[in-house]
Amino acid sequence: TSLVGLVGWRGMVGSVLMERMSTEGDFELIEPLFFSTSNAGGAAPAQAKNETRLQDAFDIDQLRRCDIVISAQGGDYTQAVYPKLRAAGWAGHWIDAASTLRMADDAVIILDPVNRPVIDRALAAGGRNWIGGNCTVSCMLMGVGALYKAGLVEWMSTQTYQAASGGGAQHMRELLTQFGSLNASVRQLLEDPKSAILDIDRQLVAAQRGLPAEATQHFGVPLAGSLIPWIDKDLGDGMSKEEWKGMAETNKILGSTQAIPVDGFCVRIGAMRCHSQALTLKLKRDVPLADLEAMIAADSEWVRVVPNTREATLQGLTPVAVTGTLNIPVGRLRKLAMGPEYLGAFTIGDQLLWGAAEPLRRMLRILIE
Ligand code: HSE
Repeated sequence: TSLVGLVGWRGMVGSVLMERMSTEGDFELIEPLFFSTSNAGGAAPAQAKNETRLQDAFDIDQLRRCDIVISAQGGDYTQAVYPKLRAAGWAGHWIDAASTLRMADDAVIILDPVNRPVIDRALAAGGRNWIGGNCTVSCMLMGVGALYKAGLVEWMSTQTYQAASGGGAQHMRELLTQFGSLNASVRQLLEDPKSAILDIDRQLVAAQRGLPAEATQHFGVPLAGSLIPWIDKDLGDGMSKEEWKGMAETNKILGSTQAIPVDGFCVRIGAMRCHSQALTLKLKRDVPLADLEAMIAADSEWVRVVPNTREATLQGLTPVAVTGTLNIPVGRLRKLAMGPEYLGAFTIGDQLLWGAAEPLRRMLRILIE
């Protein structure tokens, strides 16, 4: 039985990972060793077997015992610990949700329903670093990966609608707190059916602009009743880091020999944990829409083609419909006015599941089976 170290299992991504691993029976196949950055010596969670004490997540000797380490502790931890662990001669498998090692030559971005051949090739070549992709990219490829696999995509433009959870747990709380205080600021007018909507609007905007600094400390500006068309760092060339990841990670996941252009705008909206994306795909040739739909639908057991009707869209193609499930709906599929090679699509994924936790536990299964 492999000794599998778990780091960052108490955080948001880590908790989703623990839940998924329990549901899928992963703990029955491993000996877990739980680490903590703050509570070494404390009691390990119920999934523990023989190793019932929490180990110090910075203790290289304890980490070295593991055949596999899975970290959802975040990039700073990876940066601090991973090089020391390798320098100590550790030759185990490192599975990580953080972006720190993602673009390294000796790392594979794991999304096995899309790139199992890339994973298998790296495994055969002695690969030991398996890094989860950016959530937006992973959810997008789970939806329309079939078109890439078929070699049909000349380029893709993406406009994202990204949930608060992408920022972290505190961002989700901040969004809800903002919603609450904004609602409270107009409650009396709202309860009076005769009040004027423009009075409500004026009062609301004043409340948004007047939110105290502590109510916007994570997003920087109000998100409730607004949006933020910038995610992650400013790369200084007009691009956000989130936008840069779209092309870099898509091509790395696919193992492309020639990079396929992927570009667009990444926007934070007031959804909780599902990232949505409107896609424009330039195909290499005119393929009938029905064939494209059939390819997408057949790609995996999780992808769902949503008929391009108002009713089906409202029922199946919203963050609320998708949250908490592994389903990846792809809808609004239609040929665009620019020509028969231009395909429009809209897709949604739970960014904590396919966007974070699920590829990690699936990589664990690949390694131990
Ligand atoms: N960068 C993503 C976001 C998080 O902010 O939505 C997951 O990769």
